[in-house]
Amino acid sequence: MIQKIMDEIYSVGILDWDRRLFDELIPLPDGTSYNAYIIKGKEKIALIDTVEPKFFEGLLKNLQQLNLAHLDYVVINHAEGDHAGSLPQLLENYPELKAVTNQKCKEIIMALMHIPEERIRVIEDGDTLDLGGLTLQFLMTPWVHWPETMLTYIPEKKILFPCDFLGSHLATSELYVTDNARFLTAAKRFYAEIMMPFRKLIQNHLKKLEDYEIEIIAPSHGPLQSNPSLILDAYKDWTSDEVKNEVAIPYISMYGSTEKLVLALVDALMERGITVKPYRITRTDIGELAMGLVDVATIVIGSPTVLVGPHPVVAYAAILANAIRPKAKFASIVGSYGWKGKMVEQIASMIGNLKVEVLPPVVIKGKPTEADYKEIERLAEDIYNKHKELGIL
Ligand code: FEO
Repeated sequence: MIQKIMDEIYSVGILDWDRRLFDELIPLPDGTSYNAYIIKGKEKIALIDTVEPKFFEGLLKNLQQLNLAHLDYVVINHAEGDHAGSLPQLLENYPELKAVTNQKCKEIIMALMHIPEERIRVIEDGDTLDLGGLTLQFLMTPWVHWPETMLTYIPEKKILFPCDFLGSHLATSELYVTDNARFLTAAKRFYAEIMMPFRKLIQNHLKKLEDYEIEIIAPSHGPLQSNPSLILDAYKDWTSDEVKNEVAIPYISMYGSTEKLVLALVDALMERGITVKPYRITRTDIGELAMGLVDVATIVIGSPTVLVGPHPVVAYAAILANAIRPKAKFASIVGSYGWKGKMVEQIASMIGNLKVEVLPPVVIKGKPTEADYKEIERLAEDIYNKHKELGIL
């Protein structure tokens, strides 16, 4: 449906209440939306972003209901299909329409969607496009979360269109954020899943945005934000180099021995005033785990040994953690084996991207003994001392 944001600016995107998986990987517990916006200048009219292709008919209906005299530009802030995927149908329906984007994005949409070159107008960082009384200003912000990503800003309205950046996978009938806690949880999950690997670059983008007066953030997923500092401050916190006095323990236990070690470690850490987040990963969705890794100082992976290596589901979680690059400073491993194994070496080889100091692991034979529990206490003490040295405890 169409929702008026302010004079000359309308939301024309689509709510996808039922979507539960993105990229065949990322769970979407709250659905999502593919937001698109019409900007009506006195002379030109622009659409910002399109929608997931299967919802093109809905976008077209919204555009037709607005009775636009013409549609001149479609700004492509990001080439991924959920925002640019309807471009071929849109160009077919509006023969005069031009896609406006940067050179890198142009190359990607030409490769992914075979968009004819003559239908694309290339802009650069800082370029503006005058619509008549309203100006589209383009800011290059690569790697949020693809190399071609950019933002569009309208200075006359102080509104920012950041596409994926600063957004949330949240289907809601409300145009604006009304429940800050629910929104921040969804936004943190979104950050953890796709933005976290680019934390350092995002720090620079956030600095760049300080030069812009922003009253409304209109992302391409989730509700609009009329209190921009809420999400900007959250992003500053998540992307900062500071970690919290927290330990995440993603683990699996087949016969109970690894679980005994994990639960003993949880107690030992709690006794030392450390916040602990255990995730039994056969029951935890990967988005929840990713979110849990955003702030933690320490990650302890718990795994039994399967055919000399870690349990395959633990290996999957380790590979995932390695890909999303949380800022944790310390890591360790706890687990159990039946006869022998190379679990520690194999897990260590899977988390090479993490800039962590590895604390001596506790990997035992069979069911834990008193001596093994003492080793768990030693690991808890090691973590405590490291957190203390960091000044977070
Ligand atoms: Fe929402 Fe990167 O697409």
